[in-house]
Amino acid sequence: MTKNFLTRCLFLLALAMAVIACQKEEKKRIPMPTTDLSKVSLMPKPLKTVPTHSAFALDQFTAIYTAKGDTGFEQVGKFLSKKLKSKIDLEIPVNQATSNTVERIIYINQSDSVKLGTPEAYQLYINQDSIILNANTAEGAFRGIQTLRQLVPETSNDTLAEQSIWPVPTGKITDSPNFAYRGSMLDVARHFFSVEDVKKYIDLLSYYKINVLHLHLSDDQGWRIEIKSWPKLTEVGGSTEVGGEAGGFYTQEDYKEIVRYAAERYMTIIPEIDMPGHTNAASVSYPFLNGNGKMPKLYEGTHVGFSTFDTRKDTVYAFVDDVVREISAITSGPYFHIGGDESHVTKKKDYIYFVNKVEKIVQKYGKRMIGWDEVAIADIDSTSISHWWSSEKNAKKAVEKGMQIIISPAKKAYLDMSYDSLSKHGLHWAAYIPVDTAYVWSPEEYGEIPLEHILGVEAPLWSETISNIDELEYLAFPRVIGYSELSWSIPKNRDWEDYKIRLADQAPFLDRMNVKYYPSPLIDWKKSKFSYEKIDKD
Ligand code: ACM
Repeated sequence: MTKNFLTRCLFLLALAMAVIACQKEEKKRIPMPTTDLSKVSLMPKPLKTVPTHSAFALDQFTAIYTAKGDTGFEQVGKFLSKKLKSKIDLEIPVNQATSNTVERIIYINQSDSVKLGTPEAYQLYINQDSIILNANTAEGAFRGIQTLRQLVPETSNDTLAEQSIWPVPTGKITDSPNFAYRGSMLDVARHFFSVEDVKKYIDLLSYYKINVLHLHLSDDQGWRIEIKSWPKLTEVGGSTEVGGEAGGFYTQEDYKEIVRYAAERYMTIIPEIDMPGHTNAASVSYPFLNGNGKMPKLYEGTHVGFSTFDTRKDTVYAFVDDVVREISAITSGPYFHIGGDESHVTKKKDYIYFVNKVEKIVQKYGKRMIGWDEVAIADIDSTSISHWWSSEKNAKKAVEKGMQIIISPAKKAYLDMSYDSLSKHGLHWAAYIPVDTAYVWSPEEYGEIPLEHILGVEAPLWSETISNIDELEYLAFPRVIGYSELSWSIPKNRDWEDYKIRLADQAPFLDRMNVKYYPSPLIDWKKSKFSYEKIDKD
């Protein structure tokens, strides 16, 4: 950031504060309730919270100001304003010239403090008359406004002044993520989910600071993304899904819209084309791809491991090249996931040959390869990433190769595992995963992966048993909130007894967002609300 720019920001802030100071001579400070910032149910838990026991009076006289220019800060301010409008029906202007109706400000400031460290770090200073959010990047500011959204009460206090007031507890929050990669995966192949459904999931995940959505775009039962050079993939391969309903697919324009919507929330979309196994839908569309010696047929069942590409044909690699090229061109993030799991009918030497070649194709199109943990048996290089779901041996092999690991052990992190034997949806081949089991483990200590090799945590949601957004939400919520905390918050700040109270307090948000979460009996839902014990008369 240039010095000029910083000077401009500080000038703007000083001006806004001066206007407010003048106005304050005329208007008495509203007596605010005593609060405890450290008791608000923030999710995920911030690194450090220091309460100062008063409140900022968020009301119709509040305005948002942000750093200007093409830094993205103004968009973050507008995003906050829009979300507060839908939460409490209050219009908060963003970067409008100060008028004498403004009494308090929320300032979203671009800082150049080295103390902030990572790009997603932020500091939130909440005083009686101002809220200052400092971040080095708009991404950090975006994470910070999620915290601020959670600090604004659902209901106003209408007894403090003539106007409605939403008291925001004062104090200081210093926060930054434990892991840079905090993800969920959605399987849109076994059952297809519309762009609107995916957007709703993205919006909910971003509220909890999850920054990666991995889309499982192809499997035996369906191919879900338009490839212009191979149109039958969607015409034929996209026509089915598990259970016999019509499938569906994203046009490239649809996919671009998902990528754009995610990017607006500082979330990376990772496309996965699963191969050389899990490829029946592709092979039905173009039978020359098939390598299992049988005539491929459309498939709507749920067995795995019967399909494979023919790994010894040059034309298969020309096909893979086109697919990776077209998808990479419309994917802004740095990753391409090649699947690589459960290729049970691919000979080991053919599997290795395939993964070695596909890694080079992914790199040719400027992406970093991710593969499920099996890919570590190939001769891949240290820049590729191993996605640990099943085999600790494979994860350790990947570490020996210098690779980074994404932690998604099925027994702990699979969102498609049922909560218990009474669950309406889900499978249990890995485990039953009740809400406490999902939370009470430590990705840092799962297996013997050195910390410097852990890129982060991802919670995959496979869709064999779910076919609409309500069912998706039943399996994902509330558990995905726990995975957000396991990846954002440091181990010292994670505690089941404390978490389950904060989780109970997510109910008003989830209800307002019309999320059909599983009301686990382990949680005393909606138990505590913000409580203000007494009026501060100073
Ligand atoms: C997987 O669950 N087959 C990655």
